[in-house]
This record gives sequence, C-alpha cells and structure tokens, in this order.
Amino acid sequence: MTEQFDDSDILIRTSKLTKLFLASKFGILDRLTGVKPLYVRAVDGVNINIKRRSTVVLVGESGSGKTTMGRLLVTIEKPTSGEIFYGDLPLSKNFKAVREQVQIVYQNPFESLDPRMDISAIVEEPLLGKKISKEERKERVKQSLESVGLDYSYVYFRKAKDLSGGQRQRVALARAIISNPKFIVLDEPTSALDASIQSQVLNLLVDIKEKFGYTYLVITHNMMVTKYIADEVYVMYAGKIIETGSVDIIMKSPKHPYTQLLLKSIPSLENRKLEPMVGEPPSLINPPSGCRFNPRCPYAFDRCRMEEPELKEVESGHWVACHLY
Ligand SMILES: Nc1ncnc2c1ncn2[C@@H]1O[C@H](COP(=O)(O)OP(=O)(O)O)[C@@H](O)[C@H]1O
Ligand SMILES: [Mg+2]
Repeated sequence: MTEQFDDSDILIRTSKLTKLFLASKFGILDRLTGVKPLYVRAVDGVNINIKRRSTVVLVGESGSGKTTMGRLLVTIEKPTSGEIFYGDLPLSKNFKAVREQVQIVYQNPFESLDPRMDISAIVEEPLLGKKISKEERKERVKQSLESVGLDYSYVYFRKAKDLSGGQRQRVALARAIISNPKFIVLDEPTSALDASIQSQVLNLLVDIKEKFGYTYLVITHNMMVTKYIADEVYVMYAGKIIETGSVDIIMKSPKHPYTQLLLKSIPSLENRKLEPMVGEPPSLINPPSGCRFNPRCPYAFDRCRMEEPELKEVESGHWVACHLY
C-alpha cells in the first residue's frame, strides 16, 4: 500500500473535497422544533493536485478555508464529502500509512509549542510510542534540530519561552521533520515573524525540501511569499478554488479579478502604491449566490449574480472560475 503512495507523480489529489462545520450548537430541542442546522461551508468542492516534491501554495484572505483544507490533507479533519487520494489510493484504504507520512506546522510558534516543555521533549514528541532506543531518539532529536539550523547543545534543555520567534518556528519545523514525513503543510509559516526573519525561514524551508525531498503545501495570505516559494498556486476564495496555474502564470497573467487585486497588494518598482482590497470575504454560512466574489468585483454583471462560474481551462495549465472568460 505504501508503495503506491511512493510511486505516482501526483502525491496527493482531492476530488470535490468538502468540509462543513455546524455554525452553532444544534441540540435535540432544535431538532424537535424543526429548526434547520446552519453550516459553515469552509471547503466547498475543492479539486487540487499536488505533484511529488513540488511546493503548492494555497493563497487567499483570512477566512477562506485554507487552514481547514490543510487540516483535511493531513487527516486531522474528516471530510464531509469528497475524497482525498494519496498516490492512487483513497485515504480510507491507506489511512495508517498516510498518517505516518504527513505533518502540519502551524502559524504561530508562540501558541503551538508547550511553554513548560524542554525543546528536546517537544521535538521528540512525534517519536513517542515508536520502538526506538533512547540513544537513537536523542540522535534523531539532535539531527532534526541541526537540520533546521539550531545548535543542539544550546537549545535542547531550554524552554520555548527562552527562544526568539524565528528559533521557535525552527523548533516547530524540527518536530515536524523528525518522523521523516513525505508531505508537510506549512500554515502561514512566516506571518508571525519579523520581516527580517521571514526570508531566513523561507530559505530554510527551501533548503530542507531540497535536501530531504519533501512535498509542501504552503498556506499564506501573502503574494510575496507565494511568489518566492511556489511552483503551483491555488487561489482560494470563500471555500472555493477560483484560479490555479504555475507561479509564473499566476504572477504574470492573473485572470480572476480577485487574484489581480491580491497581486496589487505586492509592492514593486512599478507599483509603489499598496492597494488594500476593498470589502471583506463573505459569510460562509450563507455565501452570495452566483459567483461568491460578485459583491466585491469591479466587473460583476448580471450573470455573475445568478450563476456560479465553473473552473475552466483558459490556456494550458491555467484554470479560472470567472464569467469574464
Ligand atoms: N472547528 C470549526 N468549527 C466551526 N467553524 C470552523 C471551524 N474551523 C474553521 N471554521 C470556520 O471555517 C471558515 C474557514 O476557516 P479557516 O479554514 O480557518 O480559513 P483560513 O485559514 O483561510 O483563514 C471560517 O469561517 C471559520 O470560522
Ligand atoms: Mg488559516
């Protein structure tokens, strides 16, 4: 079973992946009185392909369903419907093997690391319950910490509170890689860090990926991070993928008005004015009818308010869900 996970060119693929959360507590009284439950459509029919050893970036504003998507891919959340394939097999057929080969690193290393634990114990945690000798454990903790550029003898006995933000994010990474995963979800890996540290951590991510052959899903709201690290880009809006293509295509010829607006938030030589996006992402409980972006779209016309656009291939490898095309 694991072999299939090893062989095919596409490491992970999703088909109509959907996750609904109950919007509020729904009790027996509600059921008896005929109240209909309300759902948050966090991930709504998403198809993505992640090639082995590639970096796929999922980009979009806060509240668009990115973290939920990442948690689904690393089996922390269970899909409401749809399917995730690892290699050629659906998750249900190789759950145990997949669980061992996926990891997630969360946005905020201040919250995700237990402040009372020694760094060495934090990093060792994924190995608990495995039949590994004490010496080997120690050796692997040391190797993991050194792989992420930390000095073992300096950090191993310290606590998370004794370290800087960048060092803590490195510890979180060391913990993620100690079990030799194939696939790592990095959820906003640099957004809690100072600007000067961000590029160091991005460089480190690229280095260890090359060294160990990882496949990444990087989640971000930041187009600069996307441009720096992505091979393929998926733009997510209100639970849906609205545009996808290679990083070159998305940076040079974005077609969806939302992607174009996201790109305007990158400072550059030609574009010195930052243009913050107007309006807010819609409620995922009762999303707008038609195109979910229509209330904020400068080009919306009647059809956009009535009919939801499907993802269509507008040029080779470039897919857009927009009635303009
Ligand atoms: N466990 C949960 N229970 C209820 N709603 C949730 C839960 N997790 C996420 N949501 C909701 O799902 C939506 C998408 O959230 P999230 O995946 O965190 O988006 P993003 O990472 O893009 O900010 C939000 O409206 C959020 O409130
Ligand atoms: Mg998030």
